[in-house]
Amino acid sequence: MGATVSTLAYLAASVLFILALRGLSHPETSRQGNVFGMVGMAIAIVATLFRPGMSGGGVALVLLGLAAGGAGGYVIAQRIQMTALPQLVAAFHSLVGMAAVFVAAAALYAPESFGIGTRGHVKTASLVEMSLGLAIGAVTFSGSVIAFLKLDGRMSGAPILFRNQHLLNLGLGILLLLLVIGFVGSGSEALFWLIALLSFALGFLLIIPIGGADMPVVVSMLNSYSGWAAAGIGFTVGNLLLIITGALVGASGAILSYIMCKGMNRSIVNVLLGGFGTEGGAAAAARADRGPVKVGSPEDAAFIMKNASKVIIVPGYGMAVAQAQQVVREMADLLKKEGVEVKYAIHPVAGRMPGHMNVLLAEANVPYDEVFELEEINPEFAEADVAYVIGANDVTNPAAKTDPSSPIYGMPILDVEKAKTVFFVKRSMASGYAGVDNELFYRPNTMMLFGDAKKVTQEIVQALQR
Ligand code: TAP
Repeated sequence: MGATVSTLAYLAASVLFILALRGLSHPETSRQGNVFGMVGMAIAIVATLFRPGMSGGGVALVLLGLAAGGAGGYVIAQRIQMTALPQLVAAFHSLVGMAAVFVAAAALYAPESFGIGTRGHVKTASLVEMSLGLAIGAVTFSGSVIAFLKLDGRMSGAPILFRNQHLLNLGLGILLLLLVIGFVGSGSEALFWLIALLSFALGFLLIIPIGGADMPVVVSMLNSYSGWAAAGIGFTVGNLLLIITGALVGASGAILSYIMCKGMNRSIVNVLLGGFGTEGGAAAAARADRGPVKVGSPEDAAFIMKNASKVIIVPGYGMAVAQAQQVVREMADLLKKEGVEVKYAIHPVAGRMPGHMNVLLAEANVPYDEVFELEEINPEFAEADVAYVIGANDVTNPAAKTDPSSPIYGMPILDVEKAKTVFFVKRSMASGYAGVDNELFYRPNTMMLFGDAKKVTQEIVQALQR
C-alpha cells in the first residue's frame, strides 16, 4: 500500500471515529456509533499492516498484539459486571498510559526507526513530544491504578490527606517541568528515567487525596490525559491517526469531566483538591433522631400505582446492582395497560458512570420517548401521583438544596418529594454513595419498600397481575 493510500485510509478511520463519538452521544444512535467505531478501527489496523516500510516481522508483532489484546478484551467483556465498568475503564486507562511510556522509551533508544534522529542525537521537537508523552503517560498509569484500586474496593475510598500535600505536589510539578527542560536540552537518558519516576510518583500523589465519590470524574479526566499522551506520542512516531484519535479522546474526556462536575454542581478544581466522599460520619450520626418511617409492602405499592394517573420512575445505582431494569419495564407495561401514564426520570449522575441509567433502560427496551432528563421532568413531579424511586438515593436528597454543610450541597436533584406519594425501594436505611442521610425517608408522604430492587418490583408485578 502506498503512503497516500495509507494516509487516506487513516483519514477515513478518523472520520469514522468522529461519527462514532457523535453516534454515542444519544441512546438511539449509540449502536450505530459503535459500528462506526469498529469499522474505523478495522480500517486503521489493516492500513497499519500494509503501511510502506512495514516488515514481515512487524506484521507478525502487530498480529500477535492483536491476538493477545483481542483475547484478553473478549474474556473481560464476557465476565465484567455492568456495575464494575468504572474500575475496568480505569484499569484500561492505566494500560494506555503505560503504552505511552513504552513508546517514548522506544523512540529514545531507537530513534532511527521513528525517523527522528540517531541515538543520542534526537531532534529537539521530538524530545519535547517524547517528554510530554512520557510524563502524561506515567501520571495516567499510576493515577489510574489508584483509581482502579479505590473503585474496586481494594483500597479505602476515603481521601488520604496529609499536611502540605498540595504544596508538595506543586513542588514536584515544578521539579518535573525543570527535568523536562533539562531533558529537551540534553537528550539525557538518565533524565528521561527521572521524569518517568517523578511522573509515576506524581500520578499516585495526585489521586490518593480524592474521595471515592469523585473517582468517576477522575477516571474521565485520566481518560482525557491518556488521549493527550497518545496524541503526543503520535507526533513522536509521525502517525496522523494517533494524533487525531488522541485528540478526540483527550477532548471528549475533558468534556465528560465537565458534564459530570456540572451534574454535581462542583468545579473541577474543587474535585481535584477536595476531600469529598468520606464516610459521612456527622450526617450518619444525625440519622438517629429523625423519627419513624412508614414501611409499605409490594401489594400496597401495586394498589396505589394501579389507581394513579401518573407514575414517575426514578432509577439509581441500586437498580443497576439488582439488575432490575427488565422487571421495572414489565411493571411499567402493566401500569400502562391500566391507563396509567408512566415516565422515567434520569439524573445526570445517577448510578456510577455517565449514561449508566440510560444504558440499562435501553437494555430493557424502555421506549426513549418515556425517558426524561432532570430539567425536563422536574416540573412534572408536582402533578405525579407516585414517584417510584428504585435504588436511587443521593440524586433525590433535598439536603443538596437546603443544607450548605452537606457534601452534596448545590447538586441539582430530582424533586421527587413533590409527588403525592414517594416509594423508596432499597434494602435498608443506609445512605448512598456520598454517605449522607436522606430526610425524605422520614416524610409523611414517603413509603419505604425494603428489599432487593428486583425482588420488590417482581412482587409488585405479581400483585398487579392478580
Ligand atoms: P446512591 O445515592 O449511591 O444510592 C444508591 C442506593 O441504592 C443506596 O442507598 C442503596 O441502599 C441502594 N441499593 C443498593 N443495592 C441495592 C439493591 N440490590 N436493591 C435495592 N437497593 C439497592 O445512588 P444514586 O442516587 O444513583 O446517586 C449516585 C451517586 O454516585 C451520587 O452521589 C453521585 O454524585 C455519585 N457519582 C455518580 C457519578 C456518575 S457519572 N453517575 C459520578 C460520580 C459520582 P441500600 O444499601 O439500603 O439498599
